[in-house]
Order: sequence, then C-alpha cells, then structure tokens
Amino acid sequence: MTTSPAAPGAPDGAESAALLSARGLRVAFPGRHGAPRARAVDGVDLDIRPGEIVALVGESGCGKTTLARCLLGLVQPTGGQVVFDGRPLEYSARSLKGYRKRVQLVLQDPSGSLNPRHTVYDAVAEGLRIHGHGGDERAAVAGALARAGLRPPERFFLRYPHELSGGQRQRVVIAGALVLEPELLVADEPVASLDASVRGEILALLLRLRTELGLSALVVTHDLGLAWNIADRVAVMYLGRIVETGPVEQVLTAPRHPYTRALLSVLPEAPGDPVVLTGEPPDPSRVPAGCRFHVRCPVLAGGAAERAGVADACRGRDPEILDGSGTAQVACHWARAGTG
Ligand SMILES: Nc1ncnc2c1ncn2[C@@H]1O[C@H](COP(=O)(O)OP(=O)(O)O)[C@@H](O)[C@H]1O
Ligand code: SF4
Ligand SMILES: [Mg+2]
Repeated sequence: MTTSPAAPGAPDGAESAALLSARGLRVAFPGRHGAPRARAVDGVDLDIRPGEIVALVGESGCGKTTLARCLLGLVQPTGGQVVFDGRPLEYSARSLKGYRKRVQLVLQDPSGSLNPRHTVYDAVAEGLRIHGHGGDERAAVAGALARAGLRPPERFFLRYPHELSGGQRQRVVIAGALVLEPELLVADEPVASLDASVRGEILALLLRLRTELGLSALVVTHDLGLAWNIADRVAVMYLGRIVETGPVEQVLTAPRHPYTRALLSVLPEAPGDPVVLTGEPPDPSRVPAGCRFHVRCPVLAGGAAERAGVADACRGRDPEILDGSGTAQVACHWARAGTG
C-alpha cells in the first residue's frame, strides 16, 4: 500500500484555513412510530482544507452519508453549522444554488445517478443547464470528459450509459461534477460498486484531479484500505461522531481508538487476529450513555480500561468532541490516559 503524495500547494499546517467545515454538526431524524429520534450525526467538527483529500470511514449506518449530505446542503442540520470559505452556509434556494456550483456530489454508479435515457453529453451538460452556463457548452462538456479520462471526448457524446463499462460510467458521473469547475468534491462510496481492477483507476483519477486542478475532496468509504490509498487525512466515524482523526499514515499505522483498531484488524493484510466486535449493532436512536462505543469496546471488556483507571469514565462520561483540525486526535479515555 502507498500513501498519497502531498498535494502541490496543499497546506500542511493545522492552522491553515479550512475550505469546508462542520462545526458541532447534528442531524437528528424523527423516530418512527413513537421511537426516539435517530441521532445520525451527533456533534461533528471536521475541516477540509484546500487541496486536501479527507477520507470519512466507518461501518455502514454510522452516519457517513447523512454527514456528507449535510455538508452539501442537501440536509439541513438540526444543530451546528456548515461553514464554506469562511461563511456559514445559508439555506435559501439562491444561496444553495451558488454553493452547489462550488461543492459537487459524486455518487456511485449504478445507484441511479445516470439516467439511462440520457446520452453522455446530456448527462454532463445537465449541471451547466441548471446553472445557466453562458459559455460554449460543447467545449465545457468535452473538457470535463477529457479531465475525467474519457478521450477523445467526442467519441462518448452520443453514447448511452448501458453502452459503457462500469468504470466509464463512473467517469461520466465525475465529469458531470467537474463540468461546473467546483472547488470541492464530496464522493460517497465512489468505487464501492466497481470491480477491483477499475477501482484503482478511478482512485488514480481522483488523485490526479487533486494534483492538476487543486481540488479538495471528502471521500466517504467503509473501506479503510481505500482511505489509505487516497487520503491525506482520515476521520473515523462511529455512531454519529468522529472518534479518531489525523494524518492517514499516523491513524492507520498507529491507531489509538479501539474502534479504529478493530476496523484495521479485519483488513486482509492486517497482522494478528481480527478483533470481533461484540454487542448490538449501533443504533442512532439508542446512543449509549458514557462513551458511545463502551458496550462493544474490547479494551473495556478485556479489563485494560479498568487497569488504566478509566473504566468508570468509559461507562459514565462521553469523551470530548474532536476539534476537526488536522492534528491527530482521539475521543477515548483509555487512549488519552495511556499515550497523552
Ligand atoms: N431519512 C432518514 N430518516 C430516518 N433515519 C435515517 C434517515 N437517513 C438515515 N437514517 C438513519 O441514520 C443512520 C445513519 O445512516 P447513513 O448516514 O446512511 O449511514 P452510512 O452512510 O454510514 O451507512 C442510520 O441508522 C439510518 O437508518
Ligand atoms: S473511552 Fe473506554 S469504552 Fe470508549 S473506546 Fe475508549 S476504552 Fe473503549
Ligand atoms: Mg452511506
């Protein structure tokens, strides 16, 4: 496995201004049939700086998509703020339209992101038409397809999605995002439905776009191996919270949170035995008191937290929310007691 190279011009100091930030972000969905509210995003601080690729990882249901949709302005938070380029996001139709030009969503295909009855040309031109692009539409579409690696672009103009391979379709989806010349991409599981061989090509494309266009990206994935290959920084999410964050190499080679350690232990190349998490699968309508991971935590169950004198804190006190900056941080009483 290799780590991604530093982006040209990408800031590396924690103090660099973020392009997109979550500040104490919360999204709670009303409970069905009288059930408690589902706290899908439950107090998240996260910064994405210019030219930076941040991977948001965590098992299915932990709130990654809800956080991504909230950052895109598709879901209004029930608490906290989204801040873009130094200004809080406003939710008027006009503000959101301007915002969506600058921050684009890349969905995975085939998840319905391409209309089977639209040609490649129309699929890519759609964003330009929505935003009333005044320039040369044909040139813009050709440029976006070429940047997404579909060359010569004209050869693809009149093709339909079913005539393309999975990798080509994903490139069309990416071209549709690039055509508006955004500053940041939010890619939700961008390669989850692709064959392993194509996956590498699409990841290489995202890295190239960062290098060539200075694009920032939030890449949502349940796959830590993918995060390793693409991201500068990783944020590990559990039950609506970021529980560990930091430079990808640091978090993935020296994970501190027991949850991050468990996720890493099940990767095929991981040394030692996989850590099997016991207990109920996480449910955002029933977030445990104390540390939200304590009912499944192998460190607490195995007695190490007791020996470190933090077991009562694990059961009784919610570890602090991480500040979202670039430094390595962990929301765990035991990790903090043991390693500062
Ligand atoms: N519109 C919704 N209404 C109610 N609950 C939702 C809604 N969307 C997501 N959830 C719940 O929020 C939690 C997080 O979901 P999601 O953000 O899709 O997680 P992930 O992308 O990590 O799999 C899940 O428990 C899911 O059932
Ligand atoms: S705070 Fe305690 S229960 Fe939570 S992850 Fe750390 S050791 Fe486990
Ligand atoms: Mg999801």
